Amino acid sequence: MTKSIGQILKQEHFTQKDIVQLLKSSKEDEKILFTKSSEIKLKYIGKYVYFRGLIEFSNLCKKDCLYCGIRAGNQNVNRYDIANEQILKAAKFAYDNKYGSLVLQSGERSDKIFVDRISELLKEIKSLSNNELGITISLGEQSEETYQKWFDCGAHRYLLRIESSNKELYQKIHPNNKDHSFEKRMSCLKNLQKIGYQTGTGVMIGLPFQTYEDLANDLLFMKEFDIDMVGMGPFIEHSETPLYQYKDQLMNLNDRFRLTLRMIAVLRIMMKDINIASATALQAIDPLGREKALRIGANIIMPNITPTAERANYLLYQNKPCIDEGADDCTNCMEARINMADGEIGYRQWGDSLHFGKRQQK
Ligand code: 5AD
Ligand code: FES
Repeated sequence: MTKSIGQILKQEHFTQKDIVQLLKSSKEDEKILFTKSSEIKLKYIGKYVYFRGLIEFSNLCKKDCLYCGIRAGNQNVNRYDIANEQILKAAKFAYDNKYGSLVLQSGERSDKIFVDRISELLKEIKSLSNNELGITISLGEQSEETYQKWFDCGAHRYLLRIESSNKELYQKIHPNNKDHSFEKRMSCLKNLQKIGYQTGTGVMIGLPFQTYEDLANDLLFMKEFDIDMVGMGPFIEHSETPLYQYKDQLMNLNDRFRLTLRMIAVLRIMMKDINIASATALQAIDPLGREKALRIGANIIMPNITPTAERANYLLYQNKPCIDEGADDCTNCMEARINMADGEIGYRQWGDSLHFGKRQQK
């Protein structure tokens, strides 16, 4: 016999089957799910939304993920690498505009020049902000030693999406070679956690070959791994990538969007005190997508503060929003949007994952 949504939501823990049922909710059940997840968010997290100013400083990437628009194999990308001064200027902008933290993201590289450059940048950002800006980095798979070095230079959060916790699916969306190994991804996540980073992961939703069971397992994986932060968003096909050939097998964009909201809502109920980012990819489908995610469970937003000239070249997927807005416009528009979603911005605060704090005390 299937359970009612009310019965499932009363449980302390969800099974894979429960989660699948929640993800497949009818329109009426979805309302109940979202009401519950917003209540939990308000109770455990409150209405504060924290900014992470996002600097996508380079699209040079040595990897070839089959879904990603800036993969090494895509010859049609204008490659860029923003000079350190410009990056520091963007960091200063974030600091002056009362952002509590920033995120440095780029394509993946692990050569010594790159590793040393990041170390320097981290130290300089700390010093220009009087040690106040929190720094999240999202720079892919690196050796344990590199992760440690960057931690020692001042980064304290790391985002590394698992993309899919199902190894077979992971292998279908990545080239089959040692540079794209599921085990390596997993061991990187473990190293990050061991070093003491607030560790973030996430998945794409609506990938070709992905099932509801896979998505339920992704949420169970996050819980089991005791992750501190999550960013997950809809998969959006890019015409210059190998996965584009499966575009006719995908769920329509609107369904991918709804499913992402449901994933966020279920995760908020399962992991009450973690930080959940409202993914930019949501806004690529619905102009108010990120605000909708904030209402039902997310509490982090990442305004793009990359110098405008290069934004159009960091297209992991197509139809990416805000690529011609200056950072200033982005902040103003964000404030209005958050107020609309009944949220309040936690200016000058790090907005650390409460979950991480508790994990440290154990
Ligand atoms: N659609 C949606 N998200 C994507 N990412 C990469 N390519 C796409 C795409 N086509 C996500 C991956 C990666 C993050 C930086 O962007 O999950 O980890
Ligand atoms: Fe750059 Fe996947 S294509 S890390």
